[in-house]
Amino acid sequence: MSFKVAIVGATGNVGREMLNILEERGFPVSEVVALASRRSQGTEVSFGDRTLKVKALDQYDFSDTDICIMSAGGNVSKEWSPKIGKQGCVVIDNSSAFRYDQDVPLIVPEVNPDAISLFTRKNIIANPNCSTAQLVVALKPLHDFATIKRVVVATYQSVSGAGKEGMDELFTQTRAVFVADQVDVKKFTKRIAFNVIPHIDVFLDDGFTKEEWKMVAETKKMLDPKIKLTATCVRVPVFIGHSEAVNIEFEKPITAEEAREILREAPGCQVLDKREDGGYITPLDSAGEDATFISRIREDSTIDNGLSMWIVSDNLRKGAALNAVQIAELLIERGLIQPKKKAA
Ligand SMILES: NC(=O)c1ccc[n+]([C@@H]2O[C@H](COP(=O)([O-])OP(=O)(O)OC[C@H]3O[C@@H](n4cnc5c(N)ncnc54)[C@H](OP(=O)(O)O)[C@@H]3O)[C@@H](O)[C@H]2O)c1
Repeated sequence: MSFKVAIVGATGNVGREMLNILEERGFPVSEVVALASRRSQGTEVSFGDRTLKVKALDQYDFSDTDICIMSAGGNVSKEWSPKIGKQGCVVIDNSSAFRYDQDVPLIVPEVNPDAISLFTRKNIIANPNCSTAQLVVALKPLHDFATIKRVVVATYQSVSGAGKEGMDELFTQTRAVFVADQVDVKKFTKRIAFNVIPHIDVFLDDGFTKEEWKMVAETKKMLDPKIKLTATCVRVPVFIGHSEAVNIEFEKPITAEEAREILREAPGCQVLDKREDGGYITPLDSAGEDATFISRIREDSTIDNGLSMWIVSDNLRKGAALNAVQIAELLIERGLIQPKKKAA
């Protein structure tokens, strides 16, 4: 059984990673179609040892495509995902366009796989925000053990989370600083090279940013609506890999050693926690890896049943492309999708 898969946004950061991951994991494809805007029509992207010519989304007919993985931003998704879903093609969307829609499941396969069955309502499944995905992978097994009451998180998010333009801006600004050239600010709100910016996405009325709100809303939707969460989201001059300093307050007692043991066994998690020089994960180490890494696990004696930890993952993989491919795999494992075209 194999599936015709379309990648929308195939020339972007997430889309390219999507193609790598489909190939690496031997996803059962009969055909892969690379789609982007008309700007990229005819350009080439790699899929394993093959080269795919990019087609324009607005000229493509989805009627014989089984799965569409969308990574082209919220506006493109709002316009196209419902139309594609209506053509009987299941859309897995990386943008925030449908994440909070009650008729669209928001899925991290390690956390809430059973919610996937809701997808038939709109034929759309949402992929969470990158910083939420890695957080809930680590929180879920701890919540099952000791019930989380409250989470305080500060993120250190890489520029690849802002697309290929974000990566280009860090590169050009860094070079400009070194050659004493003029530093132009375009994509970010302040200079990102040799700086950190405490602002991701737009400001809301309560002073939080939309990125911070997303972490709250998505954790509640996927893990437990009773969990209280507050976040400060910060952009840092790192190319790939989001880091999070996380403080968790539990209802029941849990020691650092228990948390370490639980996380060692938990799906998608990898504990790297030696109390010595270099005995922890950094975003650079996480780039290209699938796991959510947890380091610096320690008890917080300032609250009852409190733990602090450091959580890092490759935002283009678990934060986006890998999670989307895992969702597609879950559809197949559960027999929720059949190829439209039977193999000859
Ligand atoms: N980066 C992350 O860590 C991350 C994590 C989770 C979710 N996401 C989400 O994933 C999506 C893509 O992010 P990215 O980082 O890959 O961005 P990106 O590098 O800027 O790539 C954007 C892609 O969208 C395509 N596109 C733009 N407008 C289009 C249109 N009108 N029709 C068809 N294709 C269009 C672009 O094609 P052209 O080359 O033709 O312009 C490009 O392939 C966003 O929704 C983002 O929020 C990203």
